[in-house]
Amino acid sequence: MAEKRDLLSLLDYDHEEIYQIISRGLQFKRAATRKGNQILDGKSIALIFSKPSTRTRISFEVAIAQLGGHAVYLSARELQLGRGETIQDTGRVLARYCDAIVIRTFAHEDVVSLANAADVPVINALTDDFHPCQALADLMTILEKKERLSDIRVAYIGDGNNVCNSLLIGSAKMGIDFKAACPPGYEPDAGIIKKALAGADKGAKIEVVNDPLEAARGADILYTDVWASMGQETEADKRRAAFSNFTIDEKLVGVADQQALVMHCLPAHRGEEIAAGVLDGPQSIVFDQAENRMHIQKALLAHIFKTNRLGV
Ligand code: CP
Ligand code: NVA
Repeated sequence: MAEKRDLLSLLDYDHEEIYQIISRGLQFKRAATRKGNQILDGKSIALIFSKPSTRTRISFEVAIAQLGGHAVYLSARELQLGRGETIQDTGRVLARYCDAIVIRTFAHEDVVSLANAADVPVINALTDDFHPCQALADLMTILEKKERLSDIRVAYIGDGNNVCNSLLIGSAKMGIDFKAACPPGYEPDAGIIKKALAGADKGAKIEVVNDPLEAARGADILYTDVWASMGQETEADKRRAAFSNFTIDEKLVGVADQQALVMHCLPAHRGEEIAAGVLDGPQSIVFDQAENRMHIQKALLAHIFKTNRLGV
């Protein structure tokens, strides 16, 4: 059997592979037709979700349908997984029915265990540590809007979470300067930064600071995410206090490059990590970014199934 290609985190992907996927995502978008070559004809893809989702679930379901495949949405609570069946047994069984498994869950180790147990490709649709599909869409969006990836400075303002980790890794791989500003104690994991730097393109620079103004100054992209991620709801008050100085507001946008664009993976909390006037303002590209989730899912699936056909 040919070796399967998982997407567990962007640490496993190199510059060429990422560039190929994001370029293909742009081709899918530019083709501007919803139905095309049915490159997933006859394929069924399981989508296991242990956390809520709007963009990831729907962009995968629609992408799979438009490419002629069949998505099987599985709420983890309604699987035997929710009653104690192991993730390994779940994966072994699903692999007998389905051609790939997309999973959103808490512990990243569970996704690794699933990928080890299942004979079909596994795609990480968000864990507590990583959100690689989001980062692919983000890189595609930066390339689309700025028409380059070199000489780009990304300022990530907020929590050093799954979204930050994946964008940090993707930036390192693609030679983008990435500066995160996080409150003390909420910085991205040092081990992840080390691994990202080990696989970094020579042009990339990764920095973590505690001052949002320092990170935002002169940046081409201002990026943020929620202060309390899924699973951290009980910490929301404590986090609101710790992050009170980390809102992307008009003042922060004012110190960035004049052509700076504002990104957010969504869902957003206006008035917390981002001011309403910024999220809904002229420099915001958040809804194009959200749209690109669907184009990049198609490109990723084409990559995973090793088809060169565009499917359009
Ligand atoms: N950005 C993102 O992953 O959104 P959902 O949680 O709605 O899937
Ligand atoms: N960091 C957020 C991202 C949501 C898409 C979370 O994990 O909830």
